[in-house]
Amino acid sequence: EPGKRRRLLDAHRVAEEFYREQLVTPQAAVARTFLAERGFDRAAADEFGVGFAPQGWDGLLRHLRGRGFTEAELTASGLVSQGQRGIYDRFRGRLVWPIREVTGETVGFGARRLLDDDNGPKYLNTPETPLYRKSHVLYGIDLAKREISKQKQVVVVEGYTDVMAMHLSGVRTAVATCGTAFGTDHARIVRRLVGDHGGAGGVQLAGGASVGGEIVFTFDGDAAGQKAALRAFGEDQAFSAQTFVAVEPSGMDPCDLRQARGPDAVAALVASRQPLFEFVIRSTLAAHDLGTAEGRIRALRAAAPVVASIRDSALRPEYERLLAGWLGMDDVSGVRRAVADA
Ligand code: CTP
Ligand code: MN
Ligand code: MN
Ligand code: MN
Ligand code: MN
Repeated sequence: EPGKRRRLLDAHRVAEEFYREQLVTPQAAVARTFLAERGFDRAAADEFGVGFAPQGWDGLLRHLRGRGFTEAELTASGLVSQGQRGIYDRFRGRLVWPIREVTGETVGFGARRLLDDDNGPKYLNTPETPLYRKSHVLYGIDLAKREISKQKQVVVVEGYTDVMAMHLSGVRTAVATCGTAFGTDHARIVRRLVGDHGGAGGVQLAGGASVGGEIVFTFDGDAAGQKAALRAFGEDQAFSAQTFVAVEPSGMDPCDLRQARGPDAVAALVASRQPLFEFVIRSTLAAHDLGTAEGRIRALRAAAPVVASIRDSALRPEYERLLAGWLGMDDVSGVRRAVADA
């Protein structure tokens, strides 16, 4: 019911304030050091509302109780955990990022471990609550929304620090999923923002009917990031046709990249995006030795089903030609046969 939702939003507003106040305390030196080492200054921390959840079991709990929140409300908010002897602060000794709705209202938190001797997971997030559904939230959407609509582009990265690094590098269309894979609900949300497209290429149709925006995945260059990009291929065709992948060869994520090579390198990474179909086909080829005839044939057989899966009748022959080129074949007929047989 609406009154209940209001109360949970209020609890989050108070919690966010609390965490932000904690960031300037002596105990939070470790958090400020972490931010400084990542190249995030005070202004950046403020822009993203970053705060600190103190050590101890009941700092936030007592603060919220003092503000009149009931045990039931605290439990429903996900801000506390339930133990054998009652409730206690869920986030302790961690850097916290408020996760906000498109409206700017905070509905949950992402929290990073700061101490090596802490044996919890590196990242902890708010659990599923009436406010927070992890399959729907996109970190940074409140800050990125306007630019996403304007530029008809959304850049999807893996982590909170990556969203910050992107925005601070001038890529103000960046968002991240929060500790979960990019799924169908996320796809629906970003497509609504960038604009669905009516065909291949994402171009303005005659009469200006439809403009297809771009969804750019800039996942970590590691194996997990590659797998995540490939999973996007499992989404529907129209989604695939407006999806791009940017891969940093060194394996650095955008936050690492900004620190190592500066903001221009981050912007250049996004600019280097390749269409999802190209990324999938080239990843398939990379698993084979193209230096031998046998290897090329195996690569062709592996890649042919991907090309065959492209339903757009203008785009498929384009990829047949590209595939022939990548395989070093000057005649496309072999590729066409393989695609037809796939
Ligand atoms: N994540 C998570 N739980 C984990 C690890 C990661 O929810 N145990 C999510 C977080 O949202 C995190 C993102 O995945 O921001 C990226 O994870 P990863 O690439 O492993 O993080 P790092 O880049 O190594 O983290 P950091 O830069 O903070 O050291
Ligand atoms: Mn469509
Ligand atoms: Mn990673
Ligand atoms: Mn990472
Ligand atoms: Mn990182």
